[in-house]
Amino acid sequence: MMFDFEHRLSELASQTVLCIGDLMLDDFVYGEVARISPEAPAPVIAVGRQEVVIGGAGNVARNIAALGARCLFVGVVGEDEPGRRLMTALLSEPRIEAYLVTDRSRPTKLTHVVLNSARIDDQTSFFQDLLGFRHSDSTEMMEFIRCCADHHSVAFARGSGPSLNHMAYEMPNFDGLMRGAGRMKQNGFNIEWGVGRHGPGNNIFTYFIEPNGFVTEYTTEVEQVDEATYVPNTVEYWAKFPGRPCRWNMAGHPSNRLRAAMGGEIFAPPAGEDENLRCEEVMARTLGR
Ligand SMILES: [Fe+2]
Repeated sequence: MMFDFEHRLSELASQTVLCIGDLMLDDFVYGEVARISPEAPAPVIAVGRQEVVIGGAGNVARNIAALGARCLFVGVVGEDEPGRRLMTALLSEPRIEAYLVTDRSRPTKLTHVVLNSARIDDQTSFFQDLLGFRHSDSTEMMEFIRCCADHHSVAFARGSGPSLNHMAYEMPNFDGLMRGAGRMKQNGFNIEWGVGRHGPGNNIFTYFIEPNGFVTEYTTEVEQVDEATYVPNTVEYWAKFPGRPCRWNMAGHPSNRLRAAMGGEIFAPPAGEDENLRCEEVMARTLGR
């Protein structure tokens, strides 16, 4: 007997379908591409219109609803602007009943990267003069620069050579940071520095060492810079700042392991590699393959 697709499809309108999965926002940009950028071999788009729609499993739910069925959708969102937009968009779909769990222990974005450099003045000039970053703060050890309202998007730490100091992920709020830090601790990754509040940037921090030896920071409440009024502070200002290294006078100093990992020292070299190799040497070898 032939499968009667038309008949089955018409029956779908009387069904209730449970849909569980990952949600995402699909951001579509429509426009004309008529030329190539003079600076780089990249096509330049003249944006005509932009459309943001529910994606991932949310798109499956929309398709089920479009076929006339009632859809119960279950998913997880972060406590952030995209999460709120997804919630609003799903609520406006008449045949979808959304049951969304808000998980504030998830990071919402990569918020800054700190690089070690032996040529910190050259690096800072390059980022400001050529890449278009703005100067936020200077301390004896570090230069902080930004490309958005966050106090720092990139910072340079004085070091012996080019290597990764750490990457920081933004948590929705203090409670979310503590929940995320708790999950790390329960899984054997101790807090190597923190919980504390930094001087430059005023952000709350916790630092961990990843399995491969890089350093991860969970952070929140980073200072938002008003471009019209912001004045960077100097090395002298931060040298006398009373809240060092933690405004709460609680976090103390980083563990010795963290200092070494931030300095680019190898904790977990690839199998067969020399354990004394520095981070940048492993990266150079990998890139050279
Ligand atoms: Fe950081």
